Amino acid sequence: MAEQGFTPPTSEWYHPAPELVANANVPNYEEVCAQARQDPQAFWAERAETLSWYKKWDTVLDDSNAPFYKWFVGGKTNMVLNALDRHVSGEKRNKLAFIWEGEDGAEVTLSYWRLWQEVNKFANVLRGLGVQKGDRVTIYMGRVPEIVIAMLACAKVGAPHSVVYGGFSEQALASRIEDAQSKVLLTCDGAWLRGKIVPLKDTVDEACSRSDIVKDVIVVKRTGQAINMQAGRDHWYHELMALPHAKPEAETEIMDAEDPLFILYTSGTTGKPKGVLHTHGGYQVYTSTTLSWAFDIKEEDRWWCAADPGWITGHSYIVYAPLILGATSILYEGAPTFPEPDRWWQLVAKYGISILYTAPTAIRGLMRFGEDYPDRHDLSSLRLLGSVGEPINPEAWRWYHRVIGKERCPIIDTWWQTETGGFMITPLPSVALKPGSATRPFPGIEVDIVDEDGNPVGVNEDGDLVIKTPWPSMIRTVYGDDERFISQYWQKYAAQGWYLAGDTARRDEDGYLWVIGRNDDVLKVSGYRLGTAEVESGLVSHSAVAESAVIGIPDELRGNVIYAYCILVAGAEGSDELEAELKAHVRHEVGPIAVPKQIEFVESLPKTRSGKIMRRVLKAQALGQPLGDLSTLED
Ligand code: WT7
Repeated sequence: MAEQGFTPPTSEWYHPAPELVANANVPNYEEVCAQARQDPQAFWAERAETLSWYKKWDTVLDDSNAPFYKWFVGGKTNMVLNALDRHVSGEKRNKLAFIWEGEDGAEVTLSYWRLWQEVNKFANVLRGLGVQKGDRVTIYMGRVPEIVIAMLACAKVGAPHSVVYGGFSEQALASRIEDAQSKVLLTCDGAWLRGKIVPLKDTVDEACSRSDIVKDVIVVKRTGQAINMQAGRDHWYHELMALPHAKPEAETEIMDAEDPLFILYTSGTTGKPKGVLHTHGGYQVYTSTTLSWAFDIKEEDRWWCAADPGWITGHSYIVYAPLILGATSILYEGAPTFPEPDRWWQLVAKYGISILYTAPTAIRGLMRFGEDYPDRHDLSSLRLLGSVGEPINPEAWRWYHRVIGKERCPIIDTWWQTETGGFMITPLPSVALKPGSATRPFPGIEVDIVDEDGNPVGVNEDGDLVIKTPWPSMIRTVYGDDERFISQYWQKYAAQGWYLAGDTARRDEDGYLWVIGRNDDVLKVSGYRLGTAEVESGLVSHSAVAESAVIGIPDELRGNVIYAYCILVAGAEGSDELEAELKAHVRHEVGPIAVPKQIEFVESLPKTRSGKIMRRVLKAQALGQPLGDLSTLED
């Protein structure tokens, strides 16, 4: 069942200004699509030609072992070759790569040259700790410049990084460390959020105490409070960076196009998170092309992707693609509403931000405070706006368009996933918009909406969103679990060889695509992706809970909120105190984003005869909707 529900206003059009279209990096969407369709491999090869390679590829696409597709086979490269190395010998050398602002107002700027040096130094530090090509490094940090440096340094030495979002708690961190078997971990003493310290290092200590996998912990000093430093295991970042071997030059590891660049864990239909694997070659080609064409990045732009580097949005569009394009990015540490609800608008005015890319939940959150806050600031530098993470409801779209974009800025609503690596359905600036629709596929991407048998559904009918042909930044596998990769994404439409996105969508009378929401046991809460199973296993790990089921209920601000149903163990009694205790328990085990809004204590749960919990029945009941087909219900 789709998680979100609104009726799309399919006839409301917004047309881009003619100057914007004329000056766009891609002025004609249809033309480029036709070109891509005619010869997809030649199309992607041409895009790959815009990058540097140590050695060019022999084969653009190897589909001989589908769905284990390989791109740019035989090519030699490294993400850092294109993101940094090639810039420092050219005209970008002194351009700003990042402007960072701390929540406390601290500022750091990094030119390409300076960033390159810092990355080299840290690459030497990693090598000094014995990190080699292929070793996994876990990164669990706040939004500080060092997270970018760390990710790039890992790429430079060929060590796939596994970034775990700083909002996750110890169990989530521990299970990701274990799955990746990473011996080295990077963290901060703490992170600033709403004027308070998030004690990251304490969480690291707890997570590390659950196994003896991690041998070295590197700690960036950000907040300065007293923390435990374990002798022999823990090192201060600034001390390592001051060692003689931390020189500002370092060799970039020569990687195969198909060598892993990173693992990023995301939620799926079971409790165990999936390590989505991306590689050096195809991912560079696809992320840089999509950013350049959808957001029309120009030399003088100031690009702000307001996501966290810990999510795919941050990997692709804070760290990697903007650097490949030689853009200047803003990175802001803290909360949008701190100290006042105009912090973001202040940042736009202060840095002359020209493109802002954020999530519907953030827009709705800021919309609540009214128009006065944005109106206090000069937002005239903005020329494009973006949205990602969940369907944007038309009210939020219109507010964003009118109040922030002053009706001048197109809203680039990008549909994609951790697994896709880059934008899949998105307007280019030349495409006419409808609020709430991500419009049409990116050039070179073939999607359809189909029924259970794979037949295309009719106009405005719901179906499975599928991707019909491979693309360069597609997920290569689930780390260490090829079977899960196949069963999750390729099994349902194996006969056709299509990728199953896990979303329900429809296509309107103009061919515009409307993504409605997830149709598996995955929830979108404030744009974050959470498996029902993760929250449920968090709940049952409490001694009072025997069994639980969670569902997503539509919410104006968060898109969805979590409702949980718990069966207690014999002798335990449901109460307000226990509800509060269980919420605190989930916060500690899984993280703040997983905390249920409401917990109901029940005697039984609706199940199929084979024992699967029927969450759709719980949801229909919670929403007062018809319960639907109950023929498979056990009781
Ligand atoms: C799921 C993927 C892609 C980066 C952030 C999320 C939903 C994402 C949109 C959009 C409607 C969207 C889908 C998708 N989603 N963007 N523009 N319109 N839905 O990545 O955590 O892997 O989640 O987010 O349901 O499957 P993710």
